[in-house]
Amino acid sequence: MSILTHTPVLLNEVIQALGVQPGGRYVDSTVGGGGHAAAILEHSSPGGQLLGIDADPEAIQAAQEKLRAYRNSVRLVNDNFINLEAICLKYNFQPVHGILLDLGLSSLQLSESGRGFSFRYDAPLDMRFSPHQERTAADIINRSSETELAHLIRTYGEETRYHQIAHRIVEQRPLQTTLELAQTIERATGGRRGKIHPATRTFQALRIAVNDELKHLELALEQAVNLLGFGGRLVVISYHSLEDRIVKQFTRRESLGRIRLINRKVITASPAEVQANPRSRSAKLRAAERIIPPVSYSRVTEELHFLVDNKEDGRGGPELWEKLSVTF
Ligand SMILES: C[S@@+](CC[C@H](N)C(=O)[O-])C[C@H]1O[C@@H](n2cnc3c(N)ncnc32)[C@H](O)[C@@H]1O
Repeated sequence: MSILTHTPVLLNEVIQALGVQPGGRYVDSTVGGGGHAAAILEHSSPGGQLLGIDADPEAIQAAQEKLRAYRNSVRLVNDNFINLEAICLKYNFQPVHGILLDLGLSSLQLSESGRGFSFRYDAPLDMRFSPHQERTAADIINRSSETELAHLIRTYGEETRYHQIAHRIVEQRPLQTTLELAQTIERATGGRRGKIHPATRTFQALRIAVNDELKHLELALEQAVNLLGFGGRLVVISYHSLEDRIVKQFTRRESLGRIRLINRKVITASPAEVQANPRSRSAKLRAAERIIPPVSYSRVTEELHFLVDNKEDGRGGPELWEKLSVTF
Protein backbone atom coordinates (compact mmCIF):
# COMPACT_ATOMS: atom_id res chain seq x y z
CA MET A 1 0.00 0.00 0.00
CA SER A 2 1.31 3.43 -0.88
CA ILE A 3 2.32 5.85 1.87
CA LEU A 4 1.39 8.70 -0.46
CA THR A 5 -2.26 9.70 -0.45
CA HIS A 6 -4.39 11.84 -2.68
CA THR A 7 -5.65 14.96 -0.88
CA PRO A 8 -9.22 15.67 -2.00
CA VAL A 9 -9.62 19.13 -3.51
CA LEU A 10 -12.27 21.66 -2.32
CA LEU A 11 -13.58 19.08 0.16
CA ASN A 12 -15.87 21.32 2.26
CA GLU A 13 -17.10 23.08 -0.86
CA VAL A 14 -18.02 19.71 -2.43
CA ILE A 15 -19.96 18.57 0.63
CA GLN A 16 -21.80 21.87 0.77
CA ALA A 17 -22.53 22.04 -2.97
CA LEU A 18 -23.81 18.46 -2.96
CA GLY A 19 -26.04 19.35 0.02
CA VAL A 20 -25.10 16.01 1.59
CA GLN A 21 -27.78 14.79 4.00
CA PRO A 22 -28.22 11.78 6.27
CA GLY A 23 -29.82 8.89 4.39
CA GLY A 24 -28.95 10.33 0.97
CA ARG A 25 -27.91 8.35 -2.10
CA TYR A 26 -24.74 9.63 -3.79
CA VAL A 27 -22.61 8.71 -6.79
CA ASP A 28 -18.92 9.52 -6.86
CA SER A 29 -18.18 8.99 -10.55
CA THR A 30 -14.42 9.46 -10.07
CA VAL A 31 -13.90 7.80 -6.71
CA GLY A 32 -10.08 7.75 -6.99
CA GLY A 33 -8.48 7.32 -3.57
CA GLY A 34 -11.88 7.71 -1.89
CA GLY A 35 -11.18 11.05 -0.19
CA HIS A 36 -14.36 12.84 -1.29
CA ALA A 37 -16.31 9.59 -0.95
CA ALA A 38 -15.29 9.17 2.71
CA ALA A 39 -16.49 12.68 3.53
CA ILE A 40 -19.77 12.12 1.65
CA LEU A 41 -20.33 8.92 3.61
CA GLU A 42 -19.51 10.62 6.88
CA HIS A 43 -21.98 13.45 6.24
CA SER A 44 -24.72 11.17 4.88
CA SER A 45 -24.58 8.89 7.88
CA PRO A 46 -26.78 7.36 9.21
CA GLY A 47 -28.32 5.61 6.25
CA GLY A 48 -26.35 7.22 3.43
CA GLN A 49 -25.28 5.15 0.43
CA LEU A 50 -22.53 5.72 -2.07
CA LEU A 51 -21.83 4.21 -5.45
CA GLY A 52 -18.21 4.84 -6.43
CA ILE A 53 -16.96 4.48 -9.99
CA ASP A 54 -13.43 4.60 -11.39
CA ALA A 55 -11.94 3.42 -14.67
CA ASP A 56 -8.67 2.58 -12.93
CA PRO A 57 -8.66 -0.76 -11.07
CA GLU A 58 -5.84 0.49 -8.81
CA ALA A 59 -7.99 3.46 -7.76
CA ILE A 60 -10.82 1.07 -6.91
CA GLN A 61 -8.42 -0.90 -4.71
CA ALA A 62 -7.27 2.27 -2.96
CA ALA A 63 -10.88 3.38 -2.44
CA GLN A 64 -11.79 -0.04 -1.04
CA GLU A 65 -9.06 0.32 1.53
CA LYS A 66 -9.98 3.89 2.42
CA LEU A 67 -13.72 3.21 2.70
CA ARG A 68 -13.44 -0.05 4.64
CA ALA A 69 -15.26 1.39 7.66
CA TYR A 70 -18.28 2.14 5.44
CA ARG A 71 -18.28 -1.11 3.47
CA ASN A 72 -21.97 -1.80 4.14
CA SER A 73 -22.92 1.53 2.59
CA VAL A 74 -20.64 1.48 -0.44
CA ARG A 75 -20.58 -0.18 -3.82
CA LEU A 76 -17.46 0.27 -5.93
CA VAL A 77 -17.54 -0.29 -9.67
CA ASN A 78 -14.50 -0.45 -11.95
CA ASP A 79 -15.87 1.11 -15.11
CA ASN A 80 -15.81 4.25 -17.21
CA PHE A 81 -18.25 6.98 -16.20
CA ILE A 82 -19.62 7.04 -19.73
CA ASN A 83 -21.66 4.08 -18.45
CA LEU A 84 -23.06 6.06 -15.51
CA GLU A 85 -26.72 5.46 -16.26
CA ALA A 86 -26.29 1.79 -17.07
CA ILE A 87 -24.33 1.23 -13.85
CA CYS A 88 -26.94 2.96 -11.67
CA LEU A 89 -29.70 1.07 -13.43
CA LYS A 90 -27.91 -2.25 -12.93
CA TYR A 91 -27.56 -1.64 -9.18
CA ASN A 92 -30.99 -0.06 -8.85
CA PHE A 93 -29.30 3.10 -7.59
CA GLN A 94 -31.63 5.92 -8.65
CA PRO A 95 -32.89 8.57 -8.41
CA VAL A 96 -29.84 10.01 -6.65
CA HIS A 97 -29.41 12.98 -4.32
CA GLY A 98 -26.01 13.96 -5.62
CA ILE A 99 -23.38 13.14 -8.23
CA LEU A 100 -19.74 14.19 -8.11
CA LEU A 101 -17.24 14.31 -10.95
CA ASP A 102 -13.73 15.24 -9.80
CA LEU A 103 -12.03 15.09 -13.17
CA GLY A 104 -8.54 14.28 -14.30
CA LEU A 105 -6.15 12.12 -12.39
CA SER A 106 -5.11 11.57 -8.79
CA SER A 107 -1.75 12.28 -7.19
CA LEU A 108 -1.18 8.53 -7.01
CA GLN A 109 -1.67 8.09 -10.76
CA LEU A 110 0.58 11.06 -11.43
CA SER A 111 3.51 10.01 -9.29
CA GLU A 112 3.30 6.32 -8.52
CA SER A 113 1.41 4.44 -11.17
CA GLY A 114 4.37 4.07 -13.56
CA ARG A 115 1.91 4.77 -16.37
CA GLY A 116 3.61 7.80 -17.81
CA PHE A 117 1.21 10.58 -16.79
CA SER A 118 4.05 12.84 -15.66
CA PHE A 119 7.25 13.97 -17.36
CA ARG A 120 8.86 14.16 -13.92
CA TYR A 121 9.09 10.38 -13.59
CA ASP A 122 10.57 8.07 -16.20
CA ALA A 123 7.99 5.54 -17.35
CA PRO A 124 6.61 4.00 -20.54
CA LEU A 125 4.32 6.33 -22.51
CA ASP A 126 1.04 4.71 -21.54
CA MET A 127 -1.41 7.26 -19.96
CA ARG A 128 -4.45 4.98 -20.06
CA PHE A 129 -6.79 5.26 -17.07
CA SER A 130 -7.80 1.66 -17.63
CA PRO A 131 -5.67 -1.27 -18.86
CA HIS A 132 -8.70 -2.32 -20.95
CA GLN A 133 -8.28 0.64 -23.29
CA GLU A 134 -6.37 -0.22 -26.43
CA ARG A 135 -4.52 2.90 -27.50
CA THR A 136 -1.56 4.16 -25.45
CA ALA A 137 0.26 7.49 -25.63
CA ALA A 138 3.16 5.69 -27.36
CA ASP A 139 0.76 4.50 -30.08
CA ILE A 140 -0.34 8.08 -30.71
CA ILE A 141 3.19 9.50 -30.63
CA ASN A 142 4.69 6.85 -32.91
CA ARG A 143 1.83 6.23 -35.35
CA SER A 144 0.18 9.59 -36.01
CA SER A 145 1.19 11.81 -38.90
CA GLU A 146 2.93 15.09 -38.16
CA THR A 147 -0.25 17.00 -39.05
CA GLU A 148 -2.35 14.84 -36.74
CA LEU A 149 0.11 15.33 -33.89
CA ALA A 150 0.26 19.07 -34.43
CA HIS A 151 -3.54 19.26 -34.43
CA LEU A 152 -3.82 17.20 -31.25
CA ILE A 153 -1.17 19.21 -29.37
CA ARG A 154 -2.76 22.46 -30.46
CA THR A 155 -6.37 21.49 -29.70
CA TYR A 156 -6.04 19.48 -26.48
CA GLY A 157 -2.93 21.19 -25.12
CA GLU A 158 -3.70 24.75 -26.24
CA GLU A 159 0.01 24.81 -27.04
CA THR A 160 1.20 27.60 -29.32
CA ARG A 161 4.44 25.82 -30.31
CA TYR A 162 2.55 22.78 -31.63
CA HIS A 163 4.20 22.95 -35.01
CA GLN A 164 7.82 22.74 -33.76
CA ILE A 165 6.93 20.07 -31.20
CA ALA A 166 5.14 17.80 -33.68
CA HIS A 167 7.96 18.22 -36.20
CA ARG A 168 10.66 17.28 -33.66
CA ILE A 169 8.66 14.29 -32.36
CA VAL A 170 8.36 12.89 -35.89
CA GLU A 171 12.11 13.43 -36.43
CA GLN A 172 13.08 11.71 -33.18
CA ARG A 173 10.64 8.81 -33.01
CA PRO A 174 10.17 6.05 -32.04
CA LEU A 175 9.81 7.48 -28.55
CA GLN A 176 8.91 5.05 -25.77
CA THR A 177 9.31 6.85 -22.46
CA THR A 178 8.18 10.03 -20.74
CA LEU A 179 11.71 11.38 -20.40
CA GLU A 180 12.47 10.77 -24.09
CA LEU A 181 9.35 12.71 -25.00
CA ALA A 182 9.98 15.51 -22.47
CA GLN A 183 13.55 15.99 -23.75
CA THR A 184 12.36 16.03 -27.35
CA ILE A 185 9.84 18.75 -26.48
CA GLU A 186 12.46 20.75 -24.57
CA ARG A 187 14.74 20.67 -27.62
CA ALA A 188 11.91 21.62 -29.93
CA THR A 189 10.94 24.64 -27.85
CA GLY A 190 14.43 25.84 -26.92
CA GLY A 191 14.10 24.81 -23.27
CA ARG A 192 12.32 26.26 -20.30
CA ARG A 193 10.75 29.71 -20.38
CA GLY A 194 8.71 30.91 -17.44
CA LYS A 195 7.17 28.75 -14.70
CA ILE A 196 5.55 26.05 -16.80
CA HIS A 197 7.66 23.14 -18.06
CA PRO A 198 7.56 23.13 -21.89
CA ALA A 199 6.20 19.54 -21.88
CA THR A 200 3.19 20.32 -19.66
CA ARG A 201 0.72 21.14 -22.41
CA THR A 202 1.76 18.32 -24.73
CA PHE A 203 1.41 15.79 -21.90
CA GLN A 204 -2.06 17.16 -21.13
CA ALA A 205 -3.00 16.87 -24.80
CA LEU A 206 -1.86 13.26 -24.99
CA ARG A 207 -3.70 12.25 -21.83
CA ILE A 208 -6.92 13.85 -23.09
CA ALA A 209 -6.57 12.06 -26.44
CA VAL A 210 -5.65 8.65 -25.00
CA ASN A 211 -8.68 8.70 -22.68
CA ASP A 212 -11.05 10.62 -24.98
CA GLU A 213 -11.69 12.79 -21.95
CA LEU A 214 -13.70 15.62 -23.46
CA LYS A 215 -16.21 13.42 -25.25
CA HIS A 216 -16.57 11.21 -22.18
CA LEU A 217 -17.22 14.24 -20.00
CA GLU A 218 -20.05 15.43 -22.25
CA LEU A 219 -21.65 12.00 -22.22
CA ALA A 220 -21.39 11.69 -18.44
CA LEU A 221 -22.87 15.14 -17.73
CA GLU A 222 -25.99 14.36 -19.73
CA GLN A 223 -26.47 11.04 -17.93
CA ALA A 224 -25.80 12.58 -14.52
CA VAL A 225 -28.69 15.01 -14.87
CA ASN A 226 -30.96 12.16 -16.00
CA LEU A 227 -30.16 10.29 -12.78
CA LEU A 228 -30.81 13.13 -10.34
CA GLY A 229 -34.03 13.22 -8.41
CA PHE A 230 -35.92 16.47 -7.75
CA GLY A 231 -33.53 18.76 -5.81
CA GLY A 232 -30.59 16.43 -6.59
CA ARG A 233 -27.22 18.10 -7.07
CA LEU A 234 -24.51 17.74 -9.70
CA VAL A 235 -21.01 18.90 -8.71
CA VAL A 236 -18.09 18.96 -11.15
CA ILE A 237 -14.48 19.90 -10.46
CA SER A 238 -12.37 20.51 -13.55
CA TYR A 239 -8.67 21.24 -13.82
CA HIS A 240 -8.17 22.87 -17.21
CA SER A 241 -10.02 25.30 -19.41
CA LEU A 242 -11.15 22.73 -22.01
CA GLU A 243 -12.98 20.70 -19.36
CA ASP A 244 -14.34 23.75 -17.61
CA ARG A 245 -15.69 25.15 -20.87
CA ILE A 246 -17.67 21.95 -21.47
CA VAL A 247 -19.10 22.00 -17.93
CA LYS A 248 -19.94 25.70 -18.16
CA GLN A 249 -21.67 25.37 -21.52
CA PHE A 250 -23.55 22.26 -20.46
CA THR A 251 -24.84 23.77 -17.21
CA ARG A 252 -25.81 27.03 -18.95
CA ARG A 253 -27.72 25.12 -21.60
CA GLU A 254 -29.42 22.82 -19.09
CA SER A 255 -30.30 25.74 -16.83
CA LEU A 256 -32.90 26.68 -19.43
CA GLY A 257 -34.65 23.42 -18.60
CA ARG A 258 -33.97 20.80 -15.99
CA ILE A 259 -31.48 22.45 -13.62
CA ARG A 260 -30.63 25.71 -11.88
CA LEU A 261 -27.07 26.85 -11.25
CA ILE A 262 -26.17 26.88 -7.57
CA ASN A 263 -23.15 29.14 -7.93
CA ARG A 264 -23.20 31.73 -10.69
CA LYS A 265 -19.47 32.22 -10.29
CA VAL A 266 -17.12 29.30 -10.38
CA ILE A 267 -15.72 28.19 -6.98
CA THR A 268 -11.92 28.00 -6.64
CA ALA A 269 -9.56 27.00 -3.85
CA SER A 270 -8.59 29.47 -1.12
CA PRO A 271 -4.96 30.65 -0.97
CA ALA A 272 -4.51 28.48 2.14
CA GLU A 273 -5.69 25.36 0.27
CA VAL A 274 -3.48 26.15 -2.72
CA GLN A 275 -0.51 26.45 -0.42
CA ALA A 276 -1.28 23.19 1.36
CA ASN A 277 -2.20 21.32 -1.82
CA PRO A 278 -0.78 22.82 -5.05
CA ARG A 279 -2.98 20.48 -7.12
CA SER A 280 -5.96 22.62 -6.11
CA ARG A 281 -4.54 25.69 -7.88
CA SER A 282 -6.30 25.02 -11.16
CA ALA A 283 -9.49 23.48 -9.69
CA LYS A 284 -12.82 24.97 -10.73
CA LEU A 285 -16.04 23.78 -9.12
CA ARG A 286 -19.45 24.20 -10.73
CA ALA A 287 -22.67 22.95 -9.18
CA ALA A 288 -26.28 22.67 -10.27
CA GLU A 289 -29.56 21.44 -8.84
CA ARG A 290 -32.25 19.50 -10.62
CA ILE A 291 -35.46 21.51 -10.52
CA ILE A 292 -37.77 19.26 -12.49
CA PRO A 293 -38.68 15.85 -11.11
CA PRO A 294 -37.60 13.11 -13.52
CA VAL A 295 -41.08 11.64 -13.86
CA SER A 296 -42.96 14.82 -14.62
CA TYR A 297 -40.20 15.95 -16.95
CA SER A 298 -40.65 12.82 -19.03
CA ARG A 299 -44.42 13.30 -18.86
CA VAL A 300 -44.03 16.81 -20.27
CA THR A 301 -41.70 15.53 -22.96
CA GLU A 302 -44.17 12.80 -23.86
CA GLU A 303 -46.93 15.36 -23.96
CA LEU A 304 -44.95 17.64 -26.24
CA HIS A 305 -44.11 14.74 -28.54
CA PHE A 306 -47.76 13.76 -28.62
CA LEU A 307 -48.78 17.28 -29.59
CA VAL A 308 -46.19 17.44 -32.33
CA ASP A 309 -47.25 14.05 -33.66
CA ASN A 310 -51.00 14.69 -33.37
CA LYS A 311 -51.58 18.29 -34.35
CA GLU A 312 -55.10 17.54 -35.49
CA ASP A 313 -55.91 16.48 -31.95
CA GLY A 314 -56.64 20.15 -31.29
CA ARG A 315 -54.96 20.17 -27.87
CA GLY A 316 -52.13 22.49 -26.94
CA GLY A 317 -52.12 26.23 -26.34
CA PRO A 318 -53.59 27.21 -22.97
CA GLU A 319 -54.39 23.60 -22.11
CA LEU A 320 -50.78 22.54 -22.47
CA TRP A 321 -49.49 25.54 -20.52
CA GLU A 322 -51.89 24.74 -17.73
CA LYS A 323 -50.49 21.23 -17.63
CA LEU A 324 -46.92 22.46 -17.68
CA SER A 325 -47.43 24.93 -14.83
CA VAL A 326 -49.14 22.25 -12.75
CA THR A 327 -46.25 19.87 -13.36
CA PHE A 328 -43.58 22.45 -12.49
C1 LIG B 1 -8.91 13.58 -9.38
S1 LIG B 1 -9.07 11.87 -9.23
C2 LIG B 1 -10.37 11.68 -8.07
C3 LIG B 1 -9.92 11.75 -6.66
C4 LIG B 1 -11.03 11.53 -5.64
N1 LIG B 1 -12.05 12.54 -5.72
C5 LIG B 1 -10.48 11.44 -4.24
O1 LIG B 1 -10.91 12.21 -3.38
O2 LIG B 1 -9.62 10.60 -3.98
C6 LIG B 1 -9.89 11.44 -10.71
C7 LIG B 1 -10.19 9.97 -10.85
O3 LIG B 1 -11.10 9.85 -11.93
C8 LIG B 1 -10.80 8.69 -12.66
N2 LIG B 1 -11.35 8.89 -14.00
C9 LIG B 1 -10.98 9.81 -14.92
N3 LIG B 1 -11.73 9.69 -16.03
C10 LIG B 1 -12.60 8.68 -15.79
C11 LIG B 1 -13.65 8.09 -16.55
N4 LIG B 1 -13.94 8.50 -17.80
N5 LIG B 1 -14.36 7.10 -15.99
C12 LIG B 1 -14.10 6.67 -14.73
N6 LIG B 1 -13.10 7.17 -13.98
C13 LIG B 1 -12.38 8.17 -14.49
C14 LIG B 1 -9.30 8.59 -12.61
O4 LIG B 1 -8.90 7.25 -12.79
C15 LIG B 1 -8.99 9.10 -11.20
O5 LIG B 1 -8.89 8.05 -10.28
